[in-house]
Amino acid sequence: MNFNKIKEAEAVHYMPVFSRDNLVLDHGNGNCLYDINGNEYVDFVAGIASNILGYDHPEYTQTVCEQVHKLIHVSNHYYTAIQSEYITRLCEATGFARVFLCNSGAEANECAIKLARRYFKNHGGPKRILSAERAFHGRTLATLTVTGNENQHSVYAPLPSGFASFKYNDFDDFKAKLTDDVGAVMLETIQGECGVRPFSNDFLVNAYALCKSKGVLFIVDEVQTGMGRTGKLLSVEHFGVKPDIVTLAKGIAGGIPMGACLANEDVGTAFALGDHGSTFGGNPLACAAANKVLEILTDGGLLESSAPIGEYFGERLAHFSKYNFIADIRGKGLMRGIQFIEKLPAAAIEGKLRERGYLVNVAGNNTIRLVPPLTIEKEQIDGLIAALDDVLASTNVI
Ligand SMILES: Cc1ncc(COP(=O)(O)O)c(C=O)c1O
Repeated sequence: MNFNKIKEAEAVHYMPVFSRDNLVLDHGNGNCLYDINGNEYVDFVAGIASNILGYDHPEYTQTVCEQVHKLIHVSNHYYTAIQSEYITRLCEATGFARVFLCNSGAEANECAIKLARRYFKNHGGPKRILSAERAFHGRTLATLTVTGNENQHSVYAPLPSGFASFKYNDFDDFKAKLTDDVGAVMLETIQGECGVRPFSNDFLVNAYALCKSKGVLFIVDEVQTGMGRTGKLLSVEHFGVKPDIVTLAKGIAGGIPMGACLANEDVGTAFALGDHGSTFGGNPLACAAANKVLEILTDGGLLESSAPIGEYFGERLAHFSKYNFIADIRGKGLMRGIQFIEKLPAAAIEGKLRERGYLVNVAGNNTIRLVPPLTIEKEQIDGLIAALDDVLASTNVI
């Protein structure tokens, strides 16, 4: 199929929800992707922070292929050894007692919301859930409600009730909104979709302490920040906070769809039999993939070796503050954002980088988001920095 035919099929048959780049990807290897014309791109998108081992990682590919031959899917009505091995490894690595496995970030957050509501029910009755303005937690109706996009809220009204929001990084507002009818708080430590916006250390530590003192559940969405993205397995480890619930997806199984909702023993045992479920969640293929990803990160040392690369990335990016059309440079580890002033569309920079063989992606607020595989190499970061410098040095903003 040639490029035009591929585009035409999408235009005619796919629901019109994606604005796609003019690029047809064919295969990947290491940290690079190749289009149908054989052009190579160093990948700083990684399927949006998902392909944390890059492409065709030998051990991972072998594990997945072996599992495909052995058993892809069976009902959760039965036990499988691989699911058992994986949940043990995941709980040991994260320090949580209980987990529910699903297929995406939205589903993991939907599970977190249901679990919190079930917990409220078991402890005296319904309570509200507080989330941050500009947050992104998914696209199901409940997760859309805790996502700070007013435009989408009005399109899909009526939305489920029982939610409220607080101003990003504003502790006074948070404190004022944490009224007695609030039973849980849900946030990302770094808001990814709205342009890589980290909460301050002070905000997170104080918000957590206040929640603990009031018996309010602290739910952290680590769908994008988790699995080593910021230099620790979970980003909350940077702040010394221990949430009641954490959600994971994206990188958890290296590109095979999977999500997880983790909880402490008290909260994680709130569901009753039949309260929640999933046909595909935690099936043998996803568990084998996720188990290998976690093994490579921990026993294999990728978590340890990628953390300094993330710091190096930050140091190299800081150099771009010399350009006055850069509004801000943010992020942690291998989750970085460069925000441009309004007059300079980030999409134009994205296009110029693609011409030079680098894939990056635009997130909210005119920001280039950089979330490469955790296997990215220093030389590949140096290559991106040189290409970006070349693009920016020849950019004139009037
Ligand atoms: C922080 C966060 N939560 C939830 C989601 C939703 O994940 P999914 O697209 O897998 O449903 C995303 C997706 O970008 C995300 O970044």
